[in-house]
Amino acid sequence: MKPNDRILLLRSTLERYNHAYYVLAQPLVSDAEFDHLLHELQDLEAQHPEFFDANSPTQRVGSDLSNEFVSAAHRYPMLSLGNVYSAEELQAFDERVCKQFDGTVEYVCELKFDGVSISLIYERGQLQQALTRGDGIRGDDVTVNVRTIRTIPLALQGNVPSPLEMRGEIILPHSSFQKMNEERIANGEPAFANPRNAAAGTLKLLDSQQVAKRRLDNFAYHLLCEEMPFATHYESLQAAQAFGFKVSEHTRLCANIAEVIDFIKHWDAARKSLPYDTDGVVVKVNNYAQQRALGYTAKTPRWAVAYKFAAEQASTTLLAVSYQVGRTGAITPVANLEPVQLAGTTVKRASLHNADQIQLLDVRVGDKVFVEKGGEIIPKIVGVDISLRPAHSEPLRYITHCPECGAALVRSNDEAKHYCPNEENCPPQIVGKIIHFISRKAMNIDGLGEETAELFYQKGLVKTVADLYSISKEALLQLERIAEKSAENILQSIAKSKTMTFERVLFALGIRYVGETTAKTIARAFLSLDALQNASIEELQAVDEVGEQIAKSVYDFMHNPKNVLLLFQLREAGLQMECSANVLINNVLQGKTFVITGTLSQPREAFKARIEQCGGKVSSTISSATNYLLAGEKAGSKLAKAKQLGVAVIDEAQLAAMIGEQSITTDKQLF
Ligand code: IVH
Repeated sequence: MKPNDRILLLRSTLERYNHAYYVLAQPLVSDAEFDHLLHELQDLEAQHPEFFDANSPTQRVGSDLSNEFVSAAHRYPMLSLGNVYSAEELQAFDERVCKQFDGTVEYVCELKFDGVSISLIYERGQLQQALTRGDGIRGDDVTVNVRTIRTIPLALQGNVPSPLEMRGEIILPHSSFQKMNEERIANGEPAFANPRNAAAGTLKLLDSQQVAKRRLDNFAYHLLCEEMPFATHYESLQAAQAFGFKVSEHTRLCANIAEVIDFIKHWDAARKSLPYDTDGVVVKVNNYAQQRALGYTAKTPRWAVAYKFAAEQASTTLLAVSYQVGRTGAITPVANLEPVQLAGTTVKRASLHNADQIQLLDVRVGDKVFVEKGGEIIPKIVGVDISLRPAHSEPLRYITHCPECGAALVRSNDEAKHYCPNEENCPPQIVGKIIHFISRKAMNIDGLGEETAELFYQKGLVKTVADLYSISKEALLQLERIAEKSAENILQSIAKSKTMTFERVLFALGIRYVGETTAKTIARAFLSLDALQNASIEELQAVDEVGEQIAKSVYDFMHNPKNVLLLFQLREAGLQMECSANVLINNVLQGKTFVITGTLSQPREAFKARIEQCGGKVSSTISSATNYLLAGEKAGSKLAKAKQLGVAVIDEAQLAAMIGEQSITTDKQLF
């Protein structure tokens, strides 16, 4: 056999083996056999450079020639897709489509792969060019790098149209992403924030030998050619598969929009177990004649739409950083973002926590940042895409003065946050304290809302929380938004707050580090404001769960002349400054921990309060440290767990007996 014939035979054989191994996951030969033939081909090509072919399987390992990415025009513009986020929007899309035709329309559902889109051009079945999307009109030529991707055929099988263009997505599977980031961290390089960025970064590497090592993958999803030999998109995908492309096995032909919605529902959950990232489902009208009739808008086809899953992470631009001043004077830097969809809502702001966090992320104005919604309501910034950083950007400079009142900020060594020390005159601190005071878990003044509290402050009606108790109806009626009825409601709920327990009053004062539980503990230890005002730091610290920081904070609060006056005024107004007789009635439940579950005759809070009034503790999770499970009707997993752990299970009557009562009566003022 002539060398050239042998070379051609080896190339087609190896390409077939490659396809069987990577695309079909059904190897035809052993690795050793494959390597043996590949070496033979490499040797022959080295001896006969005149037979060089860029699409030879030997080129999949990349070359040591540096890449340069020249741009080239797309034959057909690379459009994007319109997005929808709900079944209703999808139904509206379907209605628009169906309106044009009689009856229902068939759709093809595909996963929306979260990677980098690529356009592959084949001439007479041979890969000629691979272009990135670019601006949709021109893209970068990344052919050399794309040749290293094993699931992209270099030569197509069978009788293929020519020229043929195949659009698809280049992705980096999770396993490769993880491996790649581990290596980068070990080399002291910054890790990629997500597989999509890693895929984009890899595709633009100058050294294709490096690309070959990264194990990129590809899914083909859109075939284009001059004269389409197929009647439907679905048929074209089946043909593409026969040509050698990797088409997702999770592609489904749906008879109507209801089936599409079923597909989406399934994958919204099931996608989490896929070995690569997806961010939605692409819904395409199946019939080409119908596609043509529907046509395009300036940017998107009218025959397809992307249903986006509620994203857990999104990327957007940091426009500016502003600083919020909390009720304790704590400064929180807030990122103002270009609005972006995240987990079903539009996100415009995210927390940056503190100066250390900003420094750690080295986040700068103009950066592309990644936002995540964790358990918290406010999303947070988790990373920066350094590769997209604009030139000449500068590190953020943290503020030195309060943005609200101009006071110089302070930060003690053991604190993560900066504070504005101007407690008495800094407006957001004053308003924040009022809002905290009236909140549900504090004084529960439900006739007042945050906006009204703010209005009271702006109109000079309330400067400290003590002023709430001297507001007159006339003064309220002077305010534009308040009419007779609501004025009465406000006054009534303020009056009602006078019966709130001392522990709530203590919590409502908003002493730094004194949350609901600490307030309870301290109130029960000292029983009255008098005793608390006379307590030394040591005495405070002697209380269970009160450390140096809390003790000092309470002591300082109690000895600040302004607060002495405030407390005097609150006492005069009639607030509870002692633990009333029925708080901590006895200590029969001392040292006992309870968990409450199931449906009871009163709200759970009532039982919690009663147990605590008798010296017991209530926890939300059951463990071997739990003494009793108070179980109501329909108790579920907690009951099972209690039985498993051997925790005593009691009912309401048994609890009442334990505390020497006929039944559980509660201190109504708690609610
Ligand atoms: S079809 C004209 N199908 O999503 C239609 N796109 O938002 C062209 N994508 O730029 C796209 N999976 O990068 C299509 N199964 C899929 C897809 C998909 C991911 C990406 C693609 C496109 C973007 C549009």
